[in-house]
Amino acid sequence: MRFLTRRRRSKAAKPLAILMALFAMGLLYSVASPATQSSAETASPEQIARGKAIFEQTCSSCHGLNGEGTSEGPTLIGVGSMAVDFQMGTGRMPMARPEAQAPAKPTDYSAEEIAAVAAYVQAEFGGGPQVPTSDQYSADGMTSEKLARGGELFKTNCSACHNIEGTGGALPNGKYAPSLEKTSDKHIYEAMRTGPQQMPVFAKGTLTDEDTREIIGYLQTLHAQPEQGGLHLGGLGPVGEGFWAWVLGVGGLSLVAVWLAKKGARAR
Ligand code: HEC
Ligand code: HEC
Repeated sequence: MRFLTRRRRSKAAKPLAILMALFAMGLLYSVASPATQSSAETASPEQIARGKAIFEQTCSSCHGLNGEGTSEGPTLIGVGSMAVDFQMGTGRMPMARPEAQAPAKPTDYSAEEIAAVAAYVQAEFGGGPQVPTSDQYSADGMTSEKLARGGELFKTNCSACHNIEGTGGALPNGKYAPSLEKTSDKHIYEAMRTGPQQMPVFAKGTLTDEDTREIIGYLQTLHAQPEQGGLHLGGLGPVGEGFWAWVLGVGGLSLVAVWLAKKGARAR
């Protein structure tokens, strides 16, 4: 303490403090934004050329040779590599035929081919949100509090369309919110950030990367649970929700009971 006050009074202290603050900010920035240095910046001309060839052959008929869009598909200007990675990685794109909603399905493309098209779109069509790094979506080592918080966030933001158990549900006009049971962690993250079709975009201002990791962790625990035989709640929406209300309600009541008992004991 003495040392600090003395230093603060000395002439060197102010610039030193500013320098240290700048250094700390730089450090924070480099820790907070690893995503800024991903695919596109490190993409080689060969990778981009490969992506261009695939794009012109399989995507341009609907999205236009310069990603400007056609009557068959929207513009890809500014969508970025993340949207391409999501759309191709989940098998939605290339769309086989015009329909209300491109279904998720196993993709015919290798990870390298998808990365090449993503790098091409990122480099040539104005750029946009980039493919996330695993530290942005990995839910490793989540505490049970964080998983519970993820469950709350899922309930508030996602369950209206995807159902409380993430098993999906119908939407108006023949569209649907798909089941999330088989979706990879990376694609869950990308869906939240890019908001495909009717799904809203959940930007970092709404859900931080920490929030998205908690949601991903919650979905992992939800879908890792083996079915207990007999009654499968997932298919029965309202029953499933009633069940949860019951569990939470009874859980809450027991907590109150414990609290009352403790209070009673202290009073005595
Ligand atoms: C038969 C036409 C067709 C083909 C071929 C096609 N797309 Fe699409 N694409 C669409 C339509 C229609 C949509 C919007 C509806 C949807 O998302 O389901 C779309 C949406 C997208 C989106 C999301 C855009 C956004 O705003 O988020 C991306 C990214 C995309 N396509 C990339 C590709 C890539 C890459 C290929 C080639 C590998 C491809 N598409 C091939 C028709 C097509
Ligand atoms: C307004 C309804 C709506 C809400 C709210 C919503 N989604 Fe979606 N979601 C959709 C629709 C519709 C699709 C399918 C889009 C498509 O196929 O292009 C989708 C697709 C997805 C996919 C892709 C699944 C796959 O099989 O590839 C994931 C993952 C996802 N949503 C997660 C979430 C999460 C997590 C939240 C909450 C933070 C959320 N969604 C909120 C409607 C919604």
